[in-house]
Amino acid sequence: MSYTLTAGTGVVPCEPGRTVLEAFLRNGNWMPNSCNQGTCGTCKIKVLDGELDHRNSPEATLTADELADGFVLACQATPRGDVVFETPATEESAATHALRDVVATVTEVRDIAAGTRKVLLTADEPLEFSAGQYVEVTVPGTEIRRQYSLANPPCETKQLELHIRRQPGGVASEWVFERIDVGERVAVTGPYGDFTFDPEGTTPIALLGGGTGLAPLEAIVRQALSLAPDRQILLYHGVRTCADLYDVDFLRELETRHPGFRYVTCVSRESGGDRAGYVTDAFLEDVASAKEFTGYICGSEAFVEASVKAFKRRRMSPRRIRRERFTPAG
Ligand code: FES
Repeated sequence: MSYTLTAGTGVVPCEPGRTVLEAFLRNGNWMPNSCNQGTCGTCKIKVLDGELDHRNSPEATLTADELADGFVLACQATPRGDVVFETPATEESAATHALRDVVATVTEVRDIAAGTRKVLLTADEPLEFSAGQYVEVTVPGTEIRRQYSLANPPCETKQLELHIRRQPGGVASEWVFERIDVGERVAVTGPYGDFTFDPEGTTPIALLGGGTGLAPLEAIVRQALSLAPDRQILLYHGVRTCADLYDVDFLRELETRHPGFRYVTCVSRESGGDRAGYVTDAFLEDVASAKEFTGYICGSEAFVEASVKAFKRRRMSPRRIRRERFTPAG
């Protein structure tokens, strides 16, 4: 038995217990989404008819007034029967890769920076995604899922490259830093998220990443340069200490092959890197006008906020600023 969910022209089946968001994404119907954890509000949608269970929809994200007006968080709500929603707002370049479950094998684990590992997985079957999106990995031996952005370009559909920072006491950290094994089998679901690179775009690009927020930006840079080797691309990577920097040689090598690509490391708590201080200050010093640019930002809440301000100060159009906030998950 399954329920029928309708949103605009999208009509999808939904198994009982499955969230509205999952039902739409699994069917290849786009619905705005970002955190998939009930914290960002991106997936808020109005119900026109039908009943749902709100499950873990926090009041900080879905207020009592919004509830009363019929809104739900699609990533949390599960239908109790057939439901009709308002047509969701879509982005021009919304990715439409259907959400899928795949099994992957751990093929490589490497320490790349202080408390940071690169984990390479090879999926049994191709997983289509857009540069910038993320997957959920089920920590082996548990039911716990953790979200990781994909750092490789989408042409490598069987490859899943994850950059994982250790969080003391975290279940996923314990797996990745204590007991992960090459050859281990891992359940992966994805892709998620509307932080996506638009392969049709032709504008110059500026990317600001904090810590392992570099991961989805690498995917974007690699795809952008493969499509247009001379495109103007500015990548700023911000970290606290030099030991937190990673993939420096790889990105420097890209710089030598692509004259339009500039890679700048910014170290905020000690001397070292290309620049001392924050990426936002370096960007503001270097770029007089970003009016023609498209911007991509990935980092903590505070990092994203500061970066959006910097982009706007350099007159980047708000509709061309894309952002991905992450909260470290153990
Ligand atoms: Fe649903 Fe963030 S609250 S995607």
